[in-house]
Amino acid sequence: MGRTSKYSTGQLFIQLLKDPDRKSIGRMIAEVLYLTVIFRTIPVHYISRFLFKKERKNIRDYFPSKVLYGLKQHYNERGVVPVLENKLFFDFFYRQFNINLPEMVMYNHRHAFVFNKKSIAITTPAQFRSLLQDVFKTQHNDDSLFVKRTYGTYGGHGIYKITKQQVDEHSLLLVDYFNEIVKTGYVFQETIKQHPELNKLNPSCVNSIRIDTFRNPDGEVEVISSYIRTSMDNHYVDNTGSGGGWIAVDTPTGKLEAVGYKAIKNGGIKLLKEHPVTQTVFNDFQIPYFDQAKQLVIQVAGCVPNMRLIGWDVAIGETGPILVEGNSDYDVAGTDFVARGVRSHPVFQKVLKEVNYL
Ligand SMILES: Nc1ncnc2c1ncn2[C@@H]1O[C@H](COP(=O)(O)OP(=O)(O)OP(=O)(O)O)[C@@H](O)[C@H]1O
Ligand SMILES: [Mg+2]
Repeated sequence: MGRTSKYSTGQLFIQLLKDPDRKSIGRMIAEVLYLTVIFRTIPVHYISRFLFKKERKNIRDYFPSKVLYGLKQHYNERGVVPVLENKLFFDFFYRQFNINLPEMVMYNHRHAFVFNKKSIAITTPAQFRSLLQDVFKTQHNDDSLFVKRTYGTYGGHGIYKITKQQVDEHSLLLVDYFNEIVKTGYVFQETIKQHPELNKLNPSCVNSIRIDTFRNPDGEVEVISSYIRTSMDNHYVDNTGSGGGWIAVDTPTGKLEAVGYKAIKNGGIKLLKEHPVTQTVFNDFQIPYFDQAKQLVIQVAGCVPNMRLIGWDVAIGETGPILVEGNSDYDVAGTDFVARGVRSHPVFQKVLKEVNYL
């Protein structure tokens, strides 16, 4: 979406050289060579995990993203993947367990829309607007809807926020939305109302928590790590791929750690101690209902068969956690980052051991 400035390789290199917290040039070269030999690949993660910083001493505990992405092939059965990756199937599957999910008010595939348990053919922007008026009539308390591509996208792309005002005012944007939406399938969800505490971080988006789980060889589900994502400007999605950032959560307590980050290509090597939009300080910020969020992911990870390594996105609503989605091909590099190297993490060690990476 390109909402934040992107740094070129040259600009990043200059930032790195000027960084007062970096290791010496000699040490950096030696470490990069060491990791190249160990992993037999160019260790790009030396930069993306900030291993050039003096305080990152345990460089061997971090893994290249390429290695980490390969883990899903071992742990997650391909036949079950659509239960998580298809947002429609995800809703149908998890709805039956009385889990707190965002309400799905409608879905479509191309021109066929399903609303109120009936299929309706929508072929013009005017019909689309009239349908949305009907939808908003049933959603008395809502002034917007989240419309998300059913499958095939990630990172906050293919997500629209349609407001009641746009519908009432015949906004021209509705024509654009219509033209995009009828190209493929979308789910239409109520907009989650997040807990007021989390509005202190950034009120423009739902600041969701990524919690990953592992079903260990004994069949028990264990929580691995957690971090919160937040838009670093006024965007309505929090994804890192859409210019958002992340702050590690101390998983036992649900408190934020002191430093937040942006993807290096968007934010360079800057470290953030407070949110750039609200100036809320990260250190010790307590996430409400965090214990319940952990219980929730343990429950939902236990319900899906043959999926052992999953990254869950959990929102915190006014009265408790809400499950946004589960990802079978989640960004394990994020775990490597917040766990300060997955090789040093007691639960992740089991993940690595089973595939003989340890
Ligand atoms: N119903 C909703 N109400 C408010 N905000 C939402 C809602 N659904 C999603 N969001 C926002 O959009 C972000 C991305 O949503 P979601 O996780 O469903 O899609 P995604 O990450 O792009 O999908 P995938 O990982 O499957 O590609 C969420 O983290 C949250 O910030
Ligand atoms: Mg997501």
